[in-house]
Amino acid sequence: MAVHAPVIGYTRLATGVEAEREEKPAGYVLVTGSSRGIGRAVVLRFASEGYAVAVTYHSRRDQALEVAERARRLGAPEAIVLQLDVSDPRSLEEAYRELESRWPHLNVLVNNAGVFHVGSIEETRLEDWEKVIRVNLTGVFLATKTFLPMLKKAPWASIVNIASIAGQTGNIAASAAYAASKAGVIGLTRRLAVELASYGIRVNAVAPSFVETDMVRSFLDTPEKRKKIEELHPLRMIIQPEDVAEAVYFLATPASRAITGHVLSVNAGRFTA
Ligand SMILES: NC(=O)c1ccc[n+]([C@@H]2O[C@H](COP(=O)([O-])OP(=O)(O)OC[C@H]3O[C@@H](n4cnc5c(N)ncnc54)[C@H](OP(=O)(O)O)[C@@H]3O)[C@@H](O)[C@H]2O)c1
Repeated sequence: MAVHAPVIGYTRLATGVEAEREEKPAGYVLVTGSSRGIGRAVVLRFASEGYAVAVTYHSRRDQALEVAERARRLGAPEAIVLQLDVSDPRSLEEAYRELESRWPHLNVLVNNAGVFHVGSIEETRLEDWEKVIRVNLTGVFLATKTFLPMLKKAPWASIVNIASIAGQTGNIAASAAYAASKAGVIGLTRRLAVELASYGIRVNAVAPSFVETDMVRSFLDTPEKRKKIEELHPLRMIIQPEDVAEAVYFLATPASRAITGHVLSVNAGRFTA
C-alpha cells in the first residue's frame, strides 16, 4: 500500500497583476510522475501559462517539492504536491480526495508515470512483465478512472497519455513488456477518445522516441553513445523533455479542440508511419 504523504499547497501573496492570475487559474492540471523528466517539463509548461498544477511523485518527494517551487515562480497560482502510485487504486483514491477538497474540477490529466524495461523475452520474468504492464498500462486505466469525476465537472477537459515509439514499432531498444504496455496505452487512448467524447472530454497520446531523462540516461552518458542516438533520428538531435511538453500542451488545451484519439509522434523523424 502506498504511504500517504502530506499534501503541500503553495499560495502566493496577492499583489498587483499576479493577484489577478492567482484568483483565476487558466485551468487545473494534474501530471502523474512529475518529480522529474518529461512530467516535470509538462508541469512547468502549464505553470508558465498560469495553470494551477498538481505535481505527483512516487518516491522522490524532494524533487517534487523543487518542481512545485519552480512552477510557482514561473507563474502557477497554486502548486500542490501529492504522493501517488498509479498502480495502487487506494493511493489514487487518497490523492483524489485531497485534490477534490482543494480544486473545483480538473481540466487536464496527463498520464505520464512510467517505468522502462529492456531485455529479451527469455530474460523477462513474469514479475517484470507484470510490473511494467501494471504501472505503464493499468496505471493509465486506474488514474483515468479515478480522476474522471473531477474531469467531468470541468467546463472543458482533456487527457493526454504518454505512450512511446515502442508502442508503434518493434524496432526499438525496449523489451516486449514495455512495447506491449505502450501499444496498450495507444489502444486505450483511441477507445477512451470515443467513449469520453459524450462528456466533451478529449483523449490523445504523445509517442516520443529517446528523450533525455533519467529513464534512458545510460544510453546517452558518453559522447559516442549520444552520437549513436542522434544518428537514429533523421533530424540528428536528442529530444528534450520540453519538446514533449510542447506537444502535450497543444493536445491538452482548447487550441486542439477538434482533435481526439490522436497519437502525436515526437520522434525527430525516426518512425514516420
Ligand atoms: N525518456 C524517454 O526516452 C521516453 C521515451 C518514450 C516514452 N517515455 C515515457 O514518458 C514517461 C515519462 O518518462 P521519463 O523519461 O520522464 O521517466 P523518468 O525520468 O524515469 O521519470 C519517471 C516518473 O514516473 C514516476 N513513477 C514511476 N513509477 C511510478 C508509479 N508506480 N506511480 C507513480 N509514479 C511513478 C517517477 O516518480 P519518482 O521519481 O518520484 O519515483 C518519475 O516522476 C513514461 O511513461 C515513459 O515510458 C519516455
